[in-house]
Amino acid sequence: MDAIVITGNGPLEGVTHASGAKNAALPIIASALLAPGEHTFRNVPELVDVNTMFKVLDTMGCESHRLEGKKKNIVTIKVPTNVTPEAPYDLVRTMRASVLVLGPLLARYGRARVSMPGGCAIGARPIDQHLKGLQALGAEIELSEGYVEARAKRLKGGVVTFDCITVTGTENVLMAAVLAKGRTLIENAAKEPEVEELARVLNKMGAQISGAGSDVITVDGVDDLHPVDHAIIADRIEAGTLLVAAAITGGDILVKHAVPEHLEPVLQKLRATGCIVTVEADGIRCKGPSRVQAVDLKTQEHPGFPTDMQAQLMALLATANGTSVITENIFENRYMHVAELRRMGADITVDGHTAVVRGTARLSGAPVMATDLRASASLVLAGLHAEGKTKVGRVYHLDRGYERLEKKLKALGANIRRIKDPGGT
Ligand code: EPZ
Repeated sequence: MDAIVITGNGPLEGVTHASGAKNAALPIIASALLAPGEHTFRNVPELVDVNTMFKVLDTMGCESHRLEGKKKNIVTIKVPTNVTPEAPYDLVRTMRASVLVLGPLLARYGRARVSMPGGCAIGARPIDQHLKGLQALGAEIELSEGYVEARAKRLKGGVVTFDCITVTGTENVLMAAVLAKGRTLIENAAKEPEVEELARVLNKMGAQISGAGSDVITVDGVDDLHPVDHAIIADRIEAGTLLVAAAITGGDILVKHAVPEHLEPVLQKLRATGCIVTVEADGIRCKGPSRVQAVDLKTQEHPGFPTDMQAQLMALLATANGTSVITENIFENRYMHVAELRRMGADITVDGHTAVVRGTARLSGAPVMATDLRASASLVLAGLHAEGKTKVGRVYHLDRGYERLEKKLKALGANIRRIKDPGGT
């Protein structure tokens, strides 16, 4: 087990870059099942979750191959005409987004046996809307022994109206609809940039999708799709995390490849805290003040403030001048980082979905424990600011969504290193 040790040592400065987007790569890799042949994906981040998705497809009979060295972000995947349409529990339980193979398997092979993903640290993470959407396209769904058993001779176009906005639910139904017979309308669809990116890739494969990025997506089913060569968009959450590293240390960082339109609410929030955030030719630059001002924050579905940036902003606001009120509206248990930030001297009280953050001038380094992906990023950010040494344990959480974050931060001047931590429980 690894840990990351950070000693706060002043402003971070320089140029870094955002890697490919994890939450775009995951559905895009699953979509390869829709088109037999050899796909090439570029800017594929080297992350545990992404590698797990390739493993899921390989267990079905695909052959993924990540190139080496400088080309390690290129992955080819050969999809045979016939696969074993099953995603086993031992893989799905480690990465719930494996449920994204449901739609493509049903669309192309007429059946799928996928383990129920189960919950995770931040919430119950049900998939009822995924199943409701697939049933609206004619799928017969049974739940047995912890598995979703789905069948459909041929999916038929229909109207899918989600009861709540779901990113992977929208993506699953979208991937099912592209080979369904006739027209599908997806209403109350998620509008995240990763949904738009998936639609872009599917259209490149020969699908007929319009309206992705809005709350109604129209799909006209086609009979066949072909493999693609596609470079994945930059990770807006990693980019936002790196911008907060400048804000929390009073530094000055340019994050290359970051797309401003994908991060607007985050950029506005950082400006409201007193950061100077500018859009440059090839990225976004953040210059932090010596101490940020408190601001209130509510997470919402896109284009609102992203829940995946809540923990990172909380670390920043824990150091602010004044009191901030944070409301987490998407997940029921996404304050696991609070107890750990408190160990570093943060003054935060949680009442249900609301966290009141009274800023303190200086956090103090301490041994802390990562509990989930974005919580671990929040603790690393707090460590960059804190007086003294912070050891973040269980960084396997971090490795699920950040490509060697400590290397990027070290290159910006951070005193940070990864250590073996056998004692880390
Ligand atoms: C995606 O998760 C992201 N993961 C999450 O990122 C992100 O936090 C989330 O969207 C919200 O933006 C990937 O894209 C792989 P949801 P997803 O379905 O699709 C409820 C990270 O840190 N819901 O949009 O699983 C659900 O309980 C991860 O990178 C149902 O009730 O999230 C939640 O309260 C964490 N029934 C809300 O909707 C359903 O069938 C939003 O969930 C589906 C969802």
